[in-house]
Amino acid sequence: MKLNKQDILKALETITVPGEGQNMVESGAITNVVTFADEVIVDITIKNPALQARKKTEVEILQAIHKNVYEKAKIKINVTVDAPEKSAPNVIKGKHIPGIKNIVAVASGKGGVGKSTVTANLAVTLAQMGFKVGVLDADIYGPSMPIMFDVASERPLSTTVDGKSKMKPVENYGVKILSIGFFTKPDQAVVWRGPMAAKALNQMIFDAAWGELDFLLLDLPPGTGDIHLSIMQSLPITGAVIVSTPQTVALADAKKGVAMFQQDSINVPVLGIIENMAYFTPAELPDNKYYIFGKEGAKHLAEDLQVPLLGELPLVQSIREAGDVGRPAAMQTGTPLEKAFEKITQNVVQQVVDRNDNLPATEAIKITTMAGCSAVNKK
Ligand SMILES: Nc1ncnc2c1ncn2[C@@H]1O[C@H](COP(=O)(O)OP(=O)(O)OP(=O)(O)O)[C@@H](O)[C@H]1O
Ligand SMILES: [Mg+2]
Repeated sequence: MKLNKQDILKALETITVPGEGQNMVESGAITNVVTFADEVIVDITIKNPALQARKKTEVEILQAIHKNVYEKAKIKINVTVDAPEKSAPNVIKGKHIPGIKNIVAVASGKGGVGKSTVTANLAVTLAQMGFKVGVLDADIYGPSMPIMFDVASERPLSTTVDGKSKMKPVENYGVKILSIGFFTKPDQAVVWRGPMAAKALNQMIFDAAWGELDFLLLDLPPGTGDIHLSIMQSLPITGAVIVSTPQTVALADAKKGVAMFQQDSINVPVLGIIENMAYFTPAELPDNKYYIFGKEGAKHLAEDLQVPLLGELPLVQSIREAGDVGRPAAMQTGTPLEKAFEKITQNVVQQVVDRNDNLPATEAIKITTMAGCSAVNKK
């Protein structure tokens, strides 16, 4: 059975909103409907915050779709309560997250340059140094963390914090992890629109029991798009680490990444650049270095942009293999890779310390997105 949005909306038109004399679709309460195969996700905003009102709405939606469209449809309903005075569609306000000291975003312009690999290795190295670390896999379209931490078959449990039920991050190697990958099947392409992706991320941030963290690392998707803006509007980011290979096309995109964080309206400090795949060293010739993507490109970019070079990582088979088996390479004790990640991680920590000594805390920014255009305002 393949559901479609039109049929779902038609079914939802049979439900009237109490006190408004309009149906749910006319009133604008339905903010999004996404269908794939026999599943449907309905986003709805209601004005009545009472739990009962919420439950009633959910039951009405379930019944309307099962009765009018397909009795076996799998339905997920995301209810947002929006009291009238606060209503401002598509605006999510930045919130402070108690207990999380530093949020470090790992970004690049270009895809596939090693953001996720760097995030996983930074995380385990920080944990080994004794820091409390969390990783939020914000790559809603291609989550990597469940595999890189060998927790792909796990699911976050729920826990109660101050009477509220929250998601408990999955934990491995001393690192707490949340990823959209925990909620989708590995072969399921996630075709979400920006607002839904933002909502899922918000849940993983604010409806999760992260506890006390020294560092929450964000593994961002490639590029400089909607998700990045959503994240910056939701989270006060301490600083960004940019990953690039020395290749010209990667550097050009890295430059865009740096510019995005540094623009006036966003103003997230760039902690530095990590040059990944700086050179290739074959296992059998450990002293040979082959600069297959060019030499010192990221180093020159860092000089150019006057941001620190946090270090360089070689292109070696064991980094890829370690990622694939879910045991980050930095955990191979006594190896040059462990040392390399240690040095980079120390540099990141140093930059965070310097940044916190010298700059005021980053505020989450407020971004208003309207169809086709976006205005960015400092909160
Ligand atoms: N230094 C390295 N040596 C060998 N392989 C590496 C290295 N860095 C990354 N890789 C491999 O390159 C591939 C891409 O890396 P990764 O997934 O970390 O990149 P990414 O920037 O997160 O990609 P995406 O943009 O898709 O999120 C992976 O297979 C990873 O194992
Ligand atoms: Mg990635």
